[in-house]
Amino acid sequence: MQVDLHRPVTELAPGERLHEQVMTANDPQSGLRCVIAIHDTTRGPAFGGCRVWHYANKGAALIDALRLSEGMSYKNALADLPFGGGKAVVMRPPGAFDRASLFTAFGKFVESTGGRYITAEDVGSTTEDMRNVARQTSFVSGLPRDGRFGGDPSPKTAYGVFVAMEQAVRMHLKRSIARTTVAVQGLGAVGMSLCERLHDAGASLVVADIDEARTRDANSRFGARVVSVERILMEPCDVLAPCAMGAVLNGQTVMVLNSAIVCGAANNQLAAADDGDALHDRGVLYLPDFLVNAGGIISVAREYLGQGAETTVMQEIGGIGRRVSELLERSENRAPSRVAVSWAREKLDAVAT
Ligand code: NAI
Repeated sequence: MQVDLHRPVTELAPGERLHEQVMTANDPQSGLRCVIAIHDTTRGPAFGGCRVWHYANKGAALIDALRLSEGMSYKNALADLPFGGGKAVVMRPPGAFDRASLFTAFGKFVESTGGRYITAEDVGSTTEDMRNVARQTSFVSGLPRDGRFGGDPSPKTAYGVFVAMEQAVRMHLKRSIARTTVAVQGLGAVGMSLCERLHDAGASLVVADIDEARTRDANSRFGARVVSVERILMEPCDVLAPCAMGAVLNGQTVMVLNSAIVCGAANNQLAAADDGDALHDRGVLYLPDFLVNAGGIISVAREYLGQGAETTVMQEIGGIGRRVSELLERSENRAPSRVAVSWAREKLDAVAT
């Protein structure tokens, strides 16, 4: 996992908010070692998923939690949700471990926040894990809900990314998605669902994943051309869709990308804010992850509020396309990555005052 270790976490840019609260849990019995970071609750309780990952050390886990929770504040604000930004990061225990016991302990930790933090799935956690969390706390979403709207948010995230991509292709390349080649990095829950939508819409696909079974599947189902994980970021294409892990747009990669647009699901794609400027200077249109990947949080938020129904949630996610147009209009000649952060902070300030 690459994280932005270059920027000291104490350095605050103008307008940047310090995290409200950061909590850690250490439970030797279940093996739970976890950080919950609450970035901002101006708009409501902090809402964001639970990532389970192999972190090299606790510093890497902490930095990831800080970055991801800040991104959730911007995501929830731009999506006009009544929630603030938070995230949980669980250091995956080495070797085999008892998932039920780990997520039971995690559920108790979430409960101890008294509702200041609400959790759901993210990379490394599943719907089944959230069921175990739900036995300990009601501050959880992304669950099958017996006849009511709910469950795995990944297809909703993929839909939001697809809508954003369609809009960007229309505005920036002046054509339809059917006449584009899209390179998808990562064929997990979101990436594979995105490939399916793109294939149905007539786009050509190039894909890579560290898991060969997934690339074989994408090749047989969608006729996707498979390239190596080293190659995918520099593959000539119209749109690059990072759908694996963060920090893929960094000092090394932004200069060798071969796409006109970057629009994908992965959180924290930019290793540092300057990488967004470098993409802009190269004429690559980068659509900020926290704007385009909001479909999942919209889904779990509406489920949590008991306001969800498939059609209305899909309509709300469709609004991401309009926000992409607004971002491009607001950006004029500035980097959209910077403009999107200012836009989100404006929304936070508007509620705070
Ligand atoms: P996932 O864990 O189901 O899939 C990730 C995929 O990326 C896996 O197939 C994995 O093998 C692959 N991968 C890992 N490292 C790779 C590399 N170096 N090169 C190529 N492939 C690699 O995760 P999911 O749920 O599909 O999420 C993908 C990204 O989207 C994550 O960054 C996540 O935080 C973000 N996201 C997901 C949401 C959701 O609803 N699931 C919501 C918003 C953001």
